Amino acid sequence: MAGKIPQQFIDDILSRTDIVELIDARVTLKKAGKDFQACCPFHGEKTPSFTVSQSKQFYHCFGCGAHGTAIGFLMEYDNLDFVEAIHELADTLSLEVPREDGGTQQRPSTNTKALFSLTGQANDFYQKQLREHPQKDKAVDYLKGRGLSGQIAKRFAIGFCADEWRAIQTALGSDEHLREQLVEVGLLIKKSANDYYDRFRHRIMFPIRDLRGRVIGFGGRVLSDDTPKYLNSPETPLFHKGKELYGFYEACQSNRNLSQVIVVEGYMDVVALAQHGITYAVATLGTATSGEHIERLFRKVDDIVFCFDGDRAGRDAAWRALENALPTLREGRQIRFLFLPDGEDPDTLVRKEGNERFNQRITQANTLSQYLFDHLSTDVDASSIDGRARLAEATKPLLKKLPQGTFQQMMIAELAQRTRIDVNLLSVDISGDTVKQTQINQRQQATITQRGPSLVRKAITVLLHRPNLVTAATDTSWLKDIDQAGIVLLLDLLELLRQQPHLSTGGILEHWRDTEHGRHLAKLAAQPALLESEALAAEWDDALTRLKSAASEAQLERLEERDRLGIANNDEKAELKRRYQELGQRKD
Ligand code: GTP
Ligand code: MN
Repeated sequence: MAGKIPQQFIDDILSRTDIVELIDARVTLKKAGKDFQACCPFHGEKTPSFTVSQSKQFYHCFGCGAHGTAIGFLMEYDNLDFVEAIHELADTLSLEVPREDGGTQQRPSTNTKALFSLTGQANDFYQKQLREHPQKDKAVDYLKGRGLSGQIAKRFAIGFCADEWRAIQTALGSDEHLREQLVEVGLLIKKSANDYYDRFRHRIMFPIRDLRGRVIGFGGRVLSDDTPKYLNSPETPLFHKGKELYGFYEACQSNRNLSQVIVVEGYMDVVALAQHGITYAVATLGTATSGEHIERLFRKVDDIVFCFDGDRAGRDAAWRALENALPTLREGRQIRFLFLPDGEDPDTLVRKEGNERFNQRITQANTLSQYLFDHLSTDVDASSIDGRARLAEATKPLLKKLPQGTFQQMMIAELAQRTRIDVNLLSVDISGDTVKQTQINQRQQATITQRGPSLVRKAITVLLHRPNLVTAATDTSWLKDIDQAGIVLLLDLLELLRQQPHLSTGGILEHWRDTEHGRHLAKLAAQPALLESEALAAEWDDALTRLKSAASEAQLERLEERDRLGIANNDEKAELKRRYQELGQRKD
């Protein structure tokens, strides 16, 4: 096992990376005042609310709330995990990634790169076969027979593998190491030592691509009625079937500001819809729709329409999708359900009815709440007390899965109306809060924010926006005496910055990745810096002065308390006396 990547190294690459340059290479940024802006790459929008701050080395979207550092951006945008993101940045700087056990990491990313290169080459090869192989006519006729144009085949990089056992190794090279790598990405199967054969034979090949367009796996369809009809890549280091979505990359490519996706069941459904101008369909890969699928989609869009066959299997699949979707439903996110007539799938239907009628169906899809209540009310007699009680019992566990907030409250209100049960009772039961209490909480929240942040919070925010103020900071040991929310964070932040005064905002955040501190700080960092740096310095002085007097007051109160209880020692009594003299009061 490789040791951890030293924090020092992470600080170092962050300080040498410019987040503006990094993001600009992927999303074109425009200068706007001190900062840079673009339409947010993580959700659909027409006016830019995605802001990148060079001084803070931090990005933030005021629309969807996405935010983070250079590392965070790579993780989100390029779909990397933390270690891969570090490797990516290190690569750009030509640095080796060290490990705490002293070694350097034998980089997973080098290996991953090699594997991606192979899947890419394989995909090129399959596409070429569709154009050049002696058997290509069968494949081309098949695709034409299914109504696809050459242009759409190209957009989806569809290919063909002929009825051969050793095509891919002949094409890509047959040295042992390479063949082992082809096994690793699922393209070859090892029969015995030095004997490998192609996994995919005589199939139409659908490459599955990640959001960067890299081929992570394949789905292959037979040209005839053979079985299995579809063959997917196995689980590989690049491909995790239960998480991936076919067509997501192509949907993002075809729609610069993707705001809606329709989730269908099959590869051919995605492609046929695109052929008819509905270019925002994606498919799970023969698995149920998971919460992870949904989260992935919601990172890009606000509106998901599930499209299922009208048969029993389709209805079951829809209900499972609904259950997995509930925890992801925050405000502003919408899920709808479209059921097709029995015996049809999106492919057959769009070919029969055309774009306009199909789009109409999408527009008319049921909302999640309609579908949920319709489904649960099916066998319930809502005119009887008994029936309404059953409806309430069946619905409660589902509504409990919703995050607390307006949408949950609305669903509770709807349930109350349908069952004629008091809304406050339901609310206590489901969200642990009465409606009134929730409203009061929200109001209090609002006034707290209106009243302005606490001093501690103000101090933290100022430091976060201008970390180098700490060098100027005098002794702040007295801060320990303050008993206010956030003081621990402020003390930790001061200590970090004393040791490393040159950290950027982003650098600070990476010190507390995935911790409570990190989450608080990220929220504060996301607030626009309203003040110029000189004003920030003044704010900092002001916060310190006021905190100091608060600390002094707190200390005085403590001394008085101890004196009153008769447990003050002589030093404390002397100090108290001194304080009273200072205040011009006498204590006898
Ligand atoms: P066509 O017959 O080409 O129209 O297929 P379809 O897209 O309508 O597929 P179908 O509704 O039969 O299945 C939906 C999805 O389930 C497919 O796209 C595959 O992802 C998956 N699937 C279907 N059959 C198989 C199979 O035999 N094996 C595996 N692994 N997956 C399958
Ligand atoms: Mn079909």
